[in-house]
Amino acid sequence: MTLVSSDLARAAALLQQEQLVAIPTETVYGLAGNIFSETAIKGIFEMKQRPLFNPLIVHTHSLENVSQFVREIPPKAAQLAEAFWPGSLTLVLPKKNTVPDLITAGKDTVAVRVPNHPITLELLRSLNFPLAAPSANPFGCISPTRPEHVQQYFDGQLKMVLDGGACTQGIESTIVGFDKGEPIIYRLGAIAVEAIEAVVGPVQILNKKEHAPQAPGMLSRHYAPNTPTFLVDNIQEFIVQHPNKKIGVLSFSETVAAPQVHALQLLSPTANLQEAMSRLYAAMHTLDALQLDLIVAQRFPDTGLGKSINDRLQRATKGKY
Ligand code: TXA
Ligand code: MG
Repeated sequence: MTLVSSDLARAAALLQQEQLVAIPTETVYGLAGNIFSETAIKGIFEMKQRPLFNPLIVHTHSLENVSQFVREIPPKAAQLAEAFWPGSLTLVLPKKNTVPDLITAGKDTVAVRVPNHPITLELLRSLNFPLAAPSANPFGCISPTRPEHVQQYFDGQLKMVLDGGACTQGIESTIVGFDKGEPIIYRLGAIAVEAIEAVVGPVQILNKKEHAPQAPGMLSRHYAPNTPTFLVDNIQEFIVQHPNKKIGVLSFSETVAAPQVHALQLLSPTANLQEAMSRLYAAMHTLDALQLDLIVAQRFPDTGLGKSINDRLQRATKGKY
């Protein structure tokens, strides 16, 4: 049985014993282990069935602490850290030799983040090592935004989920790397491109078609439900074209009714992108559990957080059926 509990001392003890604990962050739950423990880190890759070439994010409690793991912090990286940490921003920076190669998949860079969740910040401050934590889901599946999602994925395999309630952001962090000091967005996420540009000026978004994936979160199929899922501009039209199916609808702000619509997840009745983002994965988990024939999701306006939401919806629907 996997224990869901807010017992910080117990979580810390397990981590000190090189075991794994699922931890809450403001983005999604992470599957955490001591970055210096080979046992723990191998355990993370095994439990997630994640390929070893896919590097992990190092979580720590402060910008000051980050300098122990990275060789340099370009000025624009420092500005971003100052603006967004603790928060949903991951920086990819040149690593020091103190960071084990298993964490970085042999790369010369390490991804670091100071998460913004009070319980996890307290946990990180109480430990004398940082935590590697990928999202706490089997590779390719929808990330967990509530303790029960983690429990469903890993029941029996994992000793403990540290209970921090529902994640307030609800999709993964925005990942930013640097080329000659200039920021490049490797993965869209919970901080909008526009918010990043407001701090450091125009940024490039890595073009998946031209580059091999830097971050496997950029693999085209990822974050996917088991139910065949479609992303469309016009939900009504899609429903009419599938008269004999049991359909689940993931809608931004509009209600949809038809005999074949068996479930509706309305993400934000007031059309608020932040609210829709925070509820997206939980809604996908709910629909995926209903044994529907199809899930149809509405494309979001392609600006601000809508761009990040569309990115996840595209990956949930791409090339699978
Ligand atoms: O919000 C988040 O970022 C969550 C929470 C738990 O912090 N974590 C998360 O981790 O999404 P994960 O492992 O599911 O995704 C991390 C991504 C992967 O796509 C990985 O390839 C990329 O970060 N990454 C890690 N180190 C990297 C590096 N050195 N260079 C480029 N990409 C890197
Ligand atoms: Mg993940």
